[in-house]
Amino acid sequence: MILLSIETSCDETAVSLVEITGSFPTATYEVIGNSLFSQIDIHREYGGVFPTLAKREHIATILPMLERALEESKLVSGYTPALTSEEIKKLHELLNREHGLADQLITFHTTVGKPPIDAIAVTSGPGLEPALWVGVNFAKALSTLWNVPVVPTDHMEGHILASIYDGHHLAPLRFPALALLVSGGHTELILMREWGKYEKIGQTRDDAVGEAFDKVARLIGLPYPGGPEISKLAKDARQRNLPPFANLPAPMLNSGDLDFSFSGLKTAVRNAVAAKTLTDDQKTALARDFEDVVVTVLIHKLRQAIEAYTIQSVILGGGVSANSFLREAVAALSDTTEYPDTTIHLPKVGLATDNSIMIALAGHAHLAEALSTNALSTLRALGNRSL
Ligand code: KG4
Ligand code: ZN
Repeated sequence: MILLSIETSCDETAVSLVEITGSFPTATYEVIGNSLFSQIDIHREYGGVFPTLAKREHIATILPMLERALEESKLVSGYTPALTSEEIKKLHELLNREHGLADQLITFHTTVGKPPIDAIAVTSGPGLEPALWVGVNFAKALSTLWNVPVVPTDHMEGHILASIYDGHHLAPLRFPALALLVSGGHTELILMREWGKYEKIGQTRDDAVGEAFDKVARLIGLPYPGGPEISKLAKDARQRNLPPFANLPAPMLNSGDLDFSFSGLKTAVRNAVAAKTLTDDQKTALARDFEDVVVTVLIHKLRQAIEAYTIQSVILGGGVSANSFLREAVAALSDTTEYPDTTIHLPKVGLATDNSIMIALAGHAHLAEALSTNALSTLRALGNRSL
Protein backbone atom coordinates (compact mmCIF):
# COMPACT_ATOMS: atom_id res chain seq x y z
CA MET A 1 0.00 0.00 0.00
CA ILE A 2 1.02 3.63 -0.39
CA LEU A 3 0.56 6.05 2.48
CA LEU A 4 0.70 9.82 2.02
CA SER A 5 1.74 11.63 5.18
CA ILE A 6 1.47 15.29 6.14
CA GLU A 7 3.14 17.19 8.99
CA THR A 8 2.40 20.86 9.84
CA SER A 9 2.45 20.94 13.66
CA CYS A 10 5.12 23.58 14.06
CA ASP A 11 7.47 25.27 11.60
CA GLU A 12 8.12 22.46 9.12
CA THR A 13 5.77 21.81 6.19
CA ALA A 14 6.42 18.23 5.17
CA VAL A 15 4.84 15.63 2.88
CA SER A 16 5.98 12.04 2.28
CA LEU A 17 4.90 9.03 0.25
CA VAL A 18 5.80 5.73 1.80
CA GLU A 19 5.31 2.33 0.20
CA ILE A 20 4.43 -0.20 2.88
CA THR A 21 4.53 -3.97 2.61
CA GLY A 22 3.29 -6.02 5.54
CA SER A 23 1.69 -5.11 8.81
CA PHE A 24 2.78 -2.97 11.74
CA PRO A 25 5.36 -3.24 13.32
CA THR A 26 7.14 -5.75 11.05
CA ALA A 27 6.36 -4.07 7.72
CA THR A 28 8.89 -2.77 5.20
CA TYR A 29 8.66 0.99 4.80
CA GLU A 30 10.22 2.46 1.65
CA VAL A 31 10.14 6.23 1.28
CA ILE A 32 9.34 6.91 -2.37
CA GLY A 33 8.77 10.65 -2.09
CA ASN A 34 9.76 13.11 0.60
CA SER A 35 9.68 16.89 0.76
CA LEU A 36 10.16 19.31 3.63
CA PHE A 37 10.16 23.07 3.84
CA SER A 38 11.59 24.59 6.99
CA GLN A 39 10.24 28.00 7.98
CA ILE A 40 13.22 28.67 10.25
CA ASP A 41 14.48 31.63 8.20
CA ILE A 42 11.06 33.26 8.44
CA HIS A 43 10.70 32.84 12.21
CA ARG A 44 14.31 33.69 13.03
CA GLU A 45 13.55 37.41 12.87
CA TYR A 46 11.06 37.00 15.72
CA GLY A 47 13.31 34.75 17.82
CA GLY A 48 10.78 31.90 17.84
CA VAL A 49 7.83 30.39 16.03
CA PHE A 50 4.96 32.81 15.48
CA PRO A 51 1.77 30.67 15.09
CA THR A 52 -0.20 32.84 12.64
CA LEU A 53 2.89 33.29 10.48
CA ALA A 54 3.48 29.51 10.60
CA LYS A 55 -0.10 28.96 9.44
CA ARG A 56 0.33 31.39 6.53
CA GLU A 57 3.53 29.68 5.42
CA HIS A 58 1.99 26.19 5.67
CA ILE A 59 -0.87 27.36 3.43
CA ALA A 60 1.62 28.71 0.89
CA THR A 61 3.88 25.63 0.86
CA ILE A 62 1.74 22.56 1.48
CA LEU A 63 0.66 22.02 -2.12
CA PRO A 64 4.17 22.60 -3.56
CA MET A 65 5.45 20.04 -1.03
CA LEU A 66 2.83 17.52 -2.18
CA GLU A 67 3.73 18.16 -5.81
CA ARG A 68 7.42 17.69 -5.11
CA ALA A 69 6.88 14.43 -3.20
CA LEU A 70 4.62 13.12 -5.98
CA GLU A 71 7.14 14.02 -8.67
CA GLU A 72 9.89 12.20 -6.82
CA SER A 73 7.68 9.14 -6.39
CA LYS A 74 6.71 9.10 -10.10
CA LEU A 75 3.18 8.21 -8.98
CA VAL A 76 1.52 10.98 -10.97
CA SER A 77 -1.23 9.46 -13.10
CA GLY A 78 -2.27 12.40 -15.27
CA TYR A 79 -5.75 10.92 -15.73
CA THR A 80 -8.14 13.60 -14.54
CA PRO A 81 -11.85 12.99 -14.10
CA ALA A 82 -13.60 16.38 -14.14
CA LEU A 83 -14.83 17.65 -10.77
CA THR A 84 -18.55 18.18 -10.29
CA SER A 85 -19.78 21.52 -8.99
CA GLU A 86 -20.71 19.70 -5.76
CA GLU A 87 -17.13 18.51 -5.32
CA ILE A 88 -15.75 21.97 -6.03
CA LYS A 89 -18.13 23.46 -3.47
CA LYS A 90 -17.09 20.86 -0.88
CA LEU A 91 -13.37 21.61 -1.40
CA HIS A 92 -14.03 25.32 -0.88
CA GLU A 93 -15.92 24.52 2.32
CA LEU A 94 -13.16 22.30 3.67
CA LEU A 95 -10.45 24.84 2.86
CA ASN A 96 -12.52 27.84 3.86
CA ARG A 97 -9.85 29.11 6.25
CA GLU A 98 -6.90 28.32 3.99
CA HIS A 99 -7.34 31.27 1.69
CA GLY A 100 -6.60 30.43 -1.96
CA LEU A 101 -5.71 26.79 -1.33
CA ALA A 102 -8.96 25.29 -2.67
CA ASP A 103 -8.46 26.96 -6.07
CA GLN A 104 -4.82 25.86 -6.20
CA LEU A 105 -5.84 22.32 -5.36
CA ILE A 106 -8.50 22.28 -8.08
CA THR A 107 -5.98 23.51 -10.68
CA PHE A 108 -3.48 20.91 -9.46
CA HIS A 109 -6.11 18.18 -9.77
CA THR A 110 -6.85 19.08 -13.38
CA THR A 111 -3.22 18.41 -14.35
CA VAL A 112 -2.23 15.60 -12.00
CA GLY A 113 -5.36 13.58 -11.30
CA LYS A 114 -5.63 10.98 -8.58
CA PRO A 115 -2.38 9.25 -7.64
CA PRO A 116 -2.61 5.61 -6.47
CA ILE A 117 -2.63 6.45 -2.77
CA ASP A 118 -4.39 4.18 -0.28
CA ALA A 119 -4.60 6.39 2.79
CA ILE A 120 -3.50 9.76 4.21
CA ALA A 121 -1.84 10.12 7.62
CA VAL A 122 -1.84 13.62 9.10
CA THR A 123 -0.55 15.05 12.38
CA SER A 124 -3.62 16.04 14.39
CA GLY A 125 -1.59 17.03 17.48
CA PRO A 126 0.11 17.97 19.67
CA GLY A 127 1.39 21.25 18.25
CA LEU A 128 0.38 24.79 17.39
CA GLU A 129 -3.33 24.66 16.55
CA PRO A 130 -3.36 27.22 13.73
CA ALA A 131 -0.50 25.31 12.12
CA LEU A 132 -2.05 21.86 12.70
CA TRP A 133 -5.34 22.93 11.13
CA VAL A 134 -3.69 23.56 7.77
CA GLY A 135 -2.48 19.97 7.52
CA VAL A 136 -5.75 18.59 8.88
CA ASN A 137 -7.95 20.57 6.48
CA PHE A 138 -5.66 19.81 3.55
CA ALA A 139 -5.83 16.09 4.40
CA LYS A 140 -9.62 16.29 4.57
CA ALA A 141 -9.73 18.00 1.17
CA LEU A 142 -7.43 15.38 -0.42
CA SER A 143 -9.45 12.61 1.20
CA THR A 144 -12.61 14.02 -0.35
CA LEU A 145 -10.98 14.63 -3.72
CA TRP A 146 -9.43 11.17 -3.99
CA ASN A 147 -11.90 9.22 -1.88
CA VAL A 148 -9.25 7.75 0.44
CA PRO A 149 -9.34 7.42 4.26
CA VAL A 150 -7.48 9.67 6.70
CA VAL A 151 -5.55 8.52 9.78
CA PRO A 152 -5.21 11.17 12.53
CA THR A 153 -1.70 10.79 13.89
CA ASP A 154 0.10 11.73 17.10
CA HIS A 155 3.26 13.76 16.53
CA MET A 156 5.03 12.32 19.60
CA GLU A 157 4.29 8.74 18.60
CA GLY A 158 5.86 9.74 15.28
CA HIS A 159 9.03 10.84 17.08
CA ILE A 160 9.19 7.49 18.93
CA LEU A 161 8.84 5.44 15.75
CA ALA A 162 11.24 7.65 13.76
CA SER A 163 13.92 6.87 16.34
CA ILE A 164 13.69 3.13 15.68
CA TYR A 165 13.38 3.41 11.87
CA ASP A 166 16.49 2.40 9.92
CA GLY A 167 15.20 3.54 6.52
CA HIS A 168 13.40 0.23 5.79
CA HIS A 169 12.16 -1.32 9.03
CA LEU A 170 11.29 -0.58 12.63
CA ALA A 171 13.76 -2.13 15.05
CA PRO A 172 12.28 -4.98 17.08
CA LEU A 173 11.75 -3.60 20.58
CA ARG A 174 12.28 -5.56 23.75
CA PHE A 175 9.74 -4.60 26.41
CA PRO A 176 9.34 -2.82 28.69
CA ALA A 177 10.73 -0.03 26.53
CA LEU A 178 11.23 3.57 27.54
CA ALA A 179 11.18 6.66 25.34
CA LEU A 180 12.80 9.91 26.39
CA LEU A 181 11.12 12.52 24.21
CA VAL A 182 12.80 15.90 24.06
CA SER A 183 11.51 18.54 21.66
CA GLY A 184 10.58 22.19 21.45
CA GLY A 185 7.24 21.60 23.16
CA HIS A 186 7.74 18.35 25.12
CA THR A 187 9.98 16.65 27.63
CA GLU A 188 8.56 13.32 28.68
CA LEU A 189 9.43 9.80 29.71
CA ILE A 190 7.07 7.32 28.07
CA LEU A 191 6.85 3.71 29.17
CA MET A 192 5.86 1.13 26.54
CA ARG A 193 4.92 -2.31 27.81
CA GLU A 194 3.87 -3.37 24.32
CA TRP A 195 3.56 -1.88 20.84
CA GLY A 196 1.17 1.04 20.67
CA LYS A 197 0.60 1.28 24.44
CA TYR A 198 2.03 4.39 26.06
CA GLU A 199 2.19 5.44 29.69
CA LYS A 200 3.62 8.82 30.67
CA ILE A 201 5.80 8.28 33.73
CA GLY A 202 7.53 11.66 33.82
CA GLN A 203 7.28 15.07 32.20
CA THR A 204 8.35 18.67 32.52
CA ARG A 205 6.42 20.85 34.91
CA ASP A 206 7.19 23.98 32.92
CA ASP A 207 9.50 24.55 29.92
CA ALA A 208 10.49 21.80 27.50
CA VAL A 209 14.19 21.09 26.94
CA GLY A 210 14.17 22.46 23.38
CA GLU A 211 12.40 25.57 24.60
CA ALA A 212 15.12 26.03 27.26
CA PHE A 213 17.82 25.66 24.58
CA ASP A 214 16.04 28.25 22.44
CA LYS A 215 15.52 30.72 25.29
CA VAL A 216 19.07 30.42 26.61
CA ALA A 217 20.40 30.89 23.08
CA ARG A 218 18.38 34.09 22.83
CA LEU A 219 19.76 35.33 26.16
CA ILE A 220 23.29 35.05 24.82
CA GLY A 221 22.46 36.54 21.45
CA LEU A 222 22.30 33.39 19.30
CA PRO A 223 19.70 32.98 16.53
CA TYR A 224 16.62 30.72 16.55
CA PRO A 225 16.54 27.71 16.78
CA GLY A 226 19.00 27.85 19.63
CA GLY A 227 19.59 24.12 20.12
CA PRO A 228 22.10 23.58 17.32
CA GLU A 229 23.82 26.92 18.09
CA ILE A 230 24.29 26.13 21.79
CA SER A 231 25.49 22.67 20.87
CA LYS A 232 28.20 24.07 18.57
CA LEU A 233 29.52 26.47 21.22
CA ALA A 234 29.39 23.81 23.93
CA LYS A 235 31.49 21.47 21.81
CA ASP A 236 34.03 24.22 21.22
CA ALA A 237 34.18 24.99 24.97
CA ARG A 238 34.87 21.32 25.73
CA GLN A 239 37.56 21.04 23.08
CA ARG A 240 39.28 24.16 24.40
CA ASN A 241 38.67 23.22 28.00
CA LEU A 242 37.33 26.67 28.88
CA PRO A 243 36.78 27.32 32.59
CA PRO A 244 33.14 27.37 33.77
CA PHE A 245 31.38 30.72 33.48
CA ALA A 246 28.36 30.05 35.69
CA ASN A 247 27.55 27.55 38.39
CA LEU A 248 24.09 26.51 37.25
CA PRO A 249 21.63 24.48 39.37
CA ALA A 250 20.60 21.00 38.18
CA PRO A 251 16.82 21.34 38.61
CA MET A 252 14.80 18.46 40.13
CA LEU A 253 17.88 16.26 40.16
CA ASN A 254 16.97 14.77 43.51
CA SER A 255 13.21 15.22 43.39
CA GLY A 256 12.79 11.46 43.64
CA ASP A 257 10.20 11.35 40.86
CA LEU A 258 10.64 11.30 37.09
CA ASP A 259 9.53 14.87 36.43
CA PHE A 260 11.61 17.71 35.03
CA SER A 261 11.71 21.48 35.31
CA PHE A 262 13.75 23.80 33.13
CA SER A 263 12.37 27.27 33.73
CA GLY A 264 14.53 27.81 36.85
CA LEU A 265 17.61 26.89 34.86
CA LYS A 266 16.70 29.46 32.23
CA THR A 267 16.27 32.06 35.00
CA ALA A 268 19.66 31.12 36.44
CA VAL A 269 21.22 31.74 33.03
CA ARG A 270 19.37 35.06 32.79
CA ASN A 271 20.73 36.09 36.21
CA ALA A 272 24.23 34.99 35.27
CA VAL A 273 24.27 37.23 32.20
CA ALA A 274 22.23 40.14 33.66
CA ALA A 275 23.78 43.56 33.17
CA LYS A 276 26.97 42.05 31.74
CA THR A 277 28.54 42.10 28.34
CA LEU A 278 29.92 38.64 27.83
CA THR A 279 33.06 37.97 25.84
CA ASP A 280 32.80 35.33 23.11
CA ASP A 281 34.68 32.86 25.33
CA GLN A 282 32.32 33.50 28.23
CA LYS A 283 29.31 32.83 25.97
CA THR A 284 30.97 29.68 24.71
CA ALA A 285 31.64 28.49 28.27
CA LEU A 286 28.09 29.33 29.35
CA ALA A 287 26.62 27.28 26.49
CA ARG A 288 28.66 24.31 27.73
CA ASP A 289 27.66 24.93 31.38
CA PHE A 290 24.01 24.91 30.33
CA GLU A 291 24.24 21.82 28.09
CA ASP A 292 26.15 19.93 30.82
CA VAL A 293 23.40 20.55 33.38
CA VAL A 294 20.60 19.64 30.97
CA VAL A 295 22.25 16.37 29.98
CA THR A 296 23.09 15.56 33.60
CA VAL A 297 19.44 15.88 34.59
CA LEU A 298 18.12 13.95 31.56
CA ILE A 299 20.55 11.07 32.07
CA HIS A 300 19.91 10.96 35.81
CA LYS A 301 16.15 10.58 35.29
CA LEU A 302 16.68 8.11 32.49
CA ARG A 303 18.79 5.91 34.78
CA GLN A 304 16.19 6.19 37.52
CA ALA A 305 13.44 5.06 35.11
CA ILE A 306 15.55 2.23 33.62
CA GLU A 307 16.05 0.81 37.09
CA ALA A 308 12.51 1.38 38.38
CA TYR A 309 10.91 -0.40 35.39
CA THR A 310 13.68 -2.86 34.40
CA ILE A 311 13.82 -1.29 30.96
CA GLN A 312 15.07 -3.44 28.04
CA SER A 313 15.04 -0.84 25.24
CA VAL A 314 15.63 2.90 25.46
CA ILE A 315 14.50 5.25 22.69
CA LEU A 316 15.67 8.84 22.44
CA GLY A 317 13.38 10.99 20.29
CA GLY A 318 12.30 14.57 19.41
CA GLY A 319 14.23 17.48 17.95
CA VAL A 320 16.73 17.73 20.82
CA SER A 321 17.80 14.14 20.11
CA ALA A 322 19.83 15.70 17.27
CA ASN A 323 22.14 16.98 20.03
CA SER A 324 25.41 15.06 19.81
CA PHE A 325 26.40 15.48 23.46
CA LEU A 326 23.05 14.05 24.59
CA ARG A 327 23.24 11.23 22.02
CA GLU A 328 26.70 10.23 23.24
CA ALA A 329 25.58 10.28 26.87
CA VAL A 330 22.53 8.10 26.14
CA ALA A 331 24.54 5.70 23.98
CA ALA A 332 27.11 5.40 26.77
CA LEU A 333 24.49 3.91 29.08
CA SER A 334 24.82 0.60 27.28
CA ASP A 335 28.35 1.02 25.85
CA THR A 336 29.72 1.05 29.36
CA THR A 337 29.02 -1.81 31.68
CA GLU A 338 26.22 0.11 33.33
CA TYR A 339 23.26 -1.34 31.42
CA PRO A 340 24.90 -3.75 28.94
CA ASP A 341 21.63 -5.59 28.27
CA THR A 342 19.64 -2.48 27.43
CA THR A 343 19.34 -1.68 23.73
CA ILE A 344 19.65 2.01 22.90
CA HIS A 345 17.83 3.48 19.88
CA LEU A 346 18.81 6.87 18.50
CA PRO A 347 17.17 8.51 15.47
CA LYS A 348 19.13 8.65 12.24
CA VAL A 349 20.30 12.10 11.20
CA GLY A 350 17.41 13.96 9.56
CA LEU A 351 14.77 11.97 11.44
CA ALA A 352 15.35 13.60 14.85
CA THR A 353 13.72 16.93 14.06
CA ASP A 354 10.23 17.24 12.62
CA ASN A 355 9.54 15.44 9.33
CA SER A 356 6.65 13.60 7.70
CA ILE A 357 8.25 10.15 7.41
CA MET A 358 7.61 9.75 11.13
CA ILE A 359 3.94 10.59 10.53
CA ALA A 360 3.68 7.79 7.96
CA LEU A 361 5.11 5.33 10.51
CA ALA A 362 2.69 6.43 13.24
CA GLY A 363 -0.18 6.55 10.76
CA HIS A 364 0.46 2.96 9.72
CA ALA A 365 0.31 1.89 13.37
CA HIS A 366 -3.29 3.14 13.57
CA LEU A 367 -4.50 2.48 10.05
CA ALA A 368 -6.87 -0.37 10.85
CA GLU A 369 -8.40 1.57 13.74
CA ALA A 370 -8.95 4.66 11.55
CA LEU A 371 -10.56 2.59 8.79
CA SER A 372 -13.03 1.06 11.21
CA THR A 373 -14.05 4.34 12.85
CA ASN A 374 -14.41 6.66 9.84
CA ALA A 375 -11.97 9.12 11.34
CA LEU A 376 -12.76 11.84 8.79
CA SER A 377 -15.99 12.96 10.42
CA THR A 378 -14.34 13.59 13.80
CA LEU A 379 -10.93 14.69 12.56
CA ARG A 380 -9.74 17.94 14.13
CA ALA A 381 -6.54 19.64 15.25
CA LEU A 382 -5.78 18.94 18.91
CA GLY A 383 -3.04 21.25 20.17
CA ASN A 384 -2.80 19.35 23.47
CA ARG A 385 -3.15 15.82 22.13
CA SER A 386 -1.34 13.46 24.48
CA LEU A 387 -0.03 9.91 24.08
O1 KG4 B 1 10.84 17.96 17.43
P1 KG4 B 1 11.20 19.30 16.93
O2 KG4 B 1 11.83 19.42 15.57
O3 KG4 B 1 9.94 20.24 16.92
C1 KG4 B 1 8.98 20.12 17.93
O4 KG4 B 1 8.13 19.20 17.81
O5 KG4 B 1 9.09 20.91 18.89
O6 KG4 B 1 12.16 19.98 18.01
C2 KG4 B 1 12.65 21.29 17.85
C3 KG4 B 1 13.56 21.63 19.01
C4 KG4 B 1 13.99 23.10 19.05
O7 KG4 B 1 13.79 23.61 20.34
C5 KG4 B 1 15.47 23.03 18.69
O8 KG4 B 1 16.24 24.07 19.29
C6 KG4 B 1 15.85 21.68 19.26
O9 KG4 B 1 14.77 20.85 18.94
N1 KG4 B 1 17.07 21.16 18.64
C7 KG4 B 1 18.21 20.94 19.33
C8 KG4 B 1 19.17 20.50 18.39
N2 KG4 B 1 18.57 20.45 17.15
C9 KG4 B 1 17.28 20.85 17.34
N3 KG4 B 1 18.49 21.09 20.63
C10 KG4 B 1 19.74 20.81 21.04
N4 KG4 B 1 20.71 20.41 20.22
C11 KG4 B 1 20.49 20.23 18.89
N5 KG4 B 1 21.46 19.83 18.07
ZN1 ZN C 1 8.56 17.41 17.01
